[in-house]
Amino acid sequence: MIERTAELAAANEQLIQEMDERQRVEETLRERSEFIEQVIDHLPSGLAVFRLSGGEALHINPRAVEICGVERSAISTLSLFLERLYPNENDRRKALEKIQAPVVQSARSFSNGWSNVVLAGREGDDVHVSVLHVPVPSQGLVISVFNDVTRQHEAEENSRKLEAQLRQAQKMEAVGQLAGGVAHDFNNLLQIIIGHLSLLMSASGLNDGMQRRLRQMREASDRAAVLVRQLLTFSRNMPVRPRRLDLNDVVTGLLKMLRRLIGEHIELDVRCGSDLRPVLADRGEIEQVLMNLCVNARDAMADGGTISINLRNVYLDRDYCSRYADVAEGYYVIISVADTGTGMTPEVRERIFEPFFTTKEVGKGTGLGLATVYGIVKRINGQIRVYSELGKGSVFHIYLPADVTGFDAESEEPAPAPARGGHETILLAEDEALVRELATETLTGAGYRVLVAADGDEAVHLFKQNASQIQMALLDVVMPKRSGRAVAQIIHELRPDLPVLFCSGYTSGALSGGQPIDDRDLILKPFVPLELLTRIREMLDQKQVAPDGCMAEAPR
Ligand SMILES: Nc1ncnc2c1ncn2[C@@H]1O[C@H](COP(=O)(O)OP(=O)(O)OP(=O)(O)O)[C@@H](O)[C@H]1O
Ligand SMILES: [Mg+2]
Repeated sequence: MIERTAELAAANEQLIQEMDERQRVEETLRERSEFIEQVIDHLPSGLAVFRLSGGEALHINPRAVEICGVERSAISTLSLFLERLYPNENDRRKALEKIQAPVVQSARSFSNGWSNVVLAGREGDDVHVSVLHVPVPSQGLVISVFNDVTRQHEAEENSRKLEAQLRQAQKMEAVGQLAGGVAHDFNNLLQIIIGHLSLLMSASGLNDGMQRRLRQMREASDRAAVLVRQLLTFSRNMPVRPRRLDLNDVVTGLLKMLRRLIGEHIELDVRCGSDLRPVLADRGEIEQVLMNLCVNARDAMADGGTISINLRNVYLDRDYCSRYADVAEGYYVIISVADTGTGMTPEVRERIFEPFFTTKEVGKGTGLGLATVYGIVKRINGQIRVYSELGKGSVFHIYLPADVTGFDAESEEPAPAPARGGHETILLAEDEALVRELATETLTGAGYRVLVAADGDEAVHLFKQNASQIQMALLDVVMPKRSGRAVAQIIHELRPDLPVLFCSGYTSGALSGGQPIDDRDLILKPFVPLELLTRIREMLDQKQVAPDGCMAEAPR
């Protein structure tokens, strides 16, 4: 009996020991599992474990929920989880096939098994995720590990963009040098051609046919000269006079001209900048930039639309500059020209700054507009950013470095006064449609009333009808039906004191027939609008003080 009791006590003792042992083991196990859970939950990577059959989630760490950007319940099964990762059904099916039929994988092949997916983030942003699915068939599990690699992705994109920008800048530099070199040589050759042509044209004894041929040659070389000038601007070989400019002034000064240029079917919305910083630039060049951008915008809006010009100060910080090649940190003034036109395809967008790249019909565009803009902006260390959406429109942002130095002696020199307009009535006769339009636009833009004739006969007719109102005439010298001189003669028979400004593509000495025209009464084509307005105003003002008292209206 005693023996039996001892046996029982021993067994009891053992049982207690075994239970203790078991409790300890259980305790240890729990601690281990808690430990593992803690580790997993503090991993900087997303980790999710699912049962292969049924797809129930065994564990999803907080980082996984965070990366997926949804509630935990939205990824609580394998199929929900895969739906989140692969919105595309085809991709999802492939991923599932890989998980369910795993080839035996070594650690090495695991490292090759990472793939990238893009999730739609909570704020509509793209979240780039790198993911690896590790099937563990022996346990009937699949472990998915994933990381948010959006930042790395952005960094890579950035350096790719920087490289492309650098390549583009180098290409433009090379093209610029080439164009500049060619243009220079070409300019010298043109000089010789134009010089000798002028001499030939002024020679006596030329018959009409010869003169016509010479004139055409001269016309062609004048056109070539304009092209060369544009090329030289693009390649930064033209002399310029940078001054301290208030861009608000430049834009407002150009408004009338721009309105005329773009036509009535397009609205122009201009927002000047407040406290705009000055920039150091050549006024004429900035005007050219604006005009080229506006003409392009106009051409992109055949059915009308809006051009918005916007001016503002901006500070480009280090962070911004690190994202772009060759931008210096500092203050800039941005001129933005936006249109609601056709927009561009990425292929066109890539090439717009190349000289001679144009999508316009032959004769409609030379493809030098934006190349010139590029040349001008680069020379003053500015930047151009272009955004365009096909069918919606484009916007060109021109960043010009603000001038933060104090005033220097040169910049205090008064800028040339902008040309004044007036309210007088001017008779304009010009047969070449483009020149006629330009002159009409320039004059009406400056406030004048313009009566327009396309040939000599029409000019005489218009004059006779409106003789009392006309205060000045601008006559092309060479016109069909009746020459400018012949028209002037008839005008002067009725109104001997009426000022007449002749315009011509040829120098006064080279004008055919009759007395040479006094240089003071002649403006050479191609003239720039400013020049035309200045000459017109001068002549009108002279007349105003003339003793015969033919009073013109006071200039504005
Ligand atoms: N605002 C815009 N909207 C749509 N496309 C544009 C715009 N600006 C430029 N482009 C495209 O860029 C091309 C090049 O423009 P660029 O000003 O250099 O030459 P162009 O206008 O064709 O000719 P040019 O200015 O010499 O008369 C245009 O032909 C057009 O395809
Ligand atoms: Mg253009």
